[in-house]
Amino acid sequence: MRGLAAAVLGVALCSVVYAQKAKDEGWSQLLPPGDGRQAVLESCTTCHNLKVVVEARLSRAAWTKDVNDMIQRGAPLFPEEIDPITTYLSKVFGPDVPKLVNVNTASREELEKLPGLKPDIVSKILEARPFRNSEQLRRAVGAEKAEFEKVQYLVKYRD
Ligand code: HEC
Repeated sequence: MRGLAAAVLGVALCSVVYAQKAKDEGWSQLLPPGDGRQAVLESCTTCHNLKVVVEARLSRAAWTKDVNDMIQRGAPLFPEEIDPITTYLSKVFGPDVPKLVNVNTASREELEKLPGLKPDIVSKILEARPFRNSEQLRRAVGAEKAEFEKVQYLVKYRD
């Protein structure tokens, strides 16, 4: 009986822990490096995953409004984190950053528009896709990590 009670408690605790993180589905790999990245990972992944964040292209004013809105909804942010997080988001997901392209479904033309993707690399992508993550993509195009950096945060693997 005690064993059963412990098992039930264990399951209940697991589901509580699980409920604290939305399923990532690979979106966090599209968060570019920078100050504020860690705060986004810690504060913006409980209610929803990062799809809404990495697909957004917003001005600083709009990010400020969104971050405040999320705090109203319960996002766990310390006051001193608000400025770094807003600065980070408006830099890496600002209005001038190209929109994400789905590397698994995009046309040749759409892929060729991405910085750093020359026609021969695009051909390799079209042959080798689908990919599930940036590491698979990088290996398929045979790129060095640094060379791959530009395009890495501009492609997604699902819609
Ligand atoms: C307490 C829960 C919660 C947390 C934590 C949270 N969000 Fe949200 N977020 C929501 C909800 C709920 C919506 C949907 C709002 C809607 O549809 O009106 C949303 C939607 C969004 C959207 C879509 C656009 C919009 O404004 O509706 C963006 C962008 C966003 N969140 C960014 C963030 C960022 C950045 C963080 C971390 C600072 C964050 N969220 C943390 C609850 C949360």
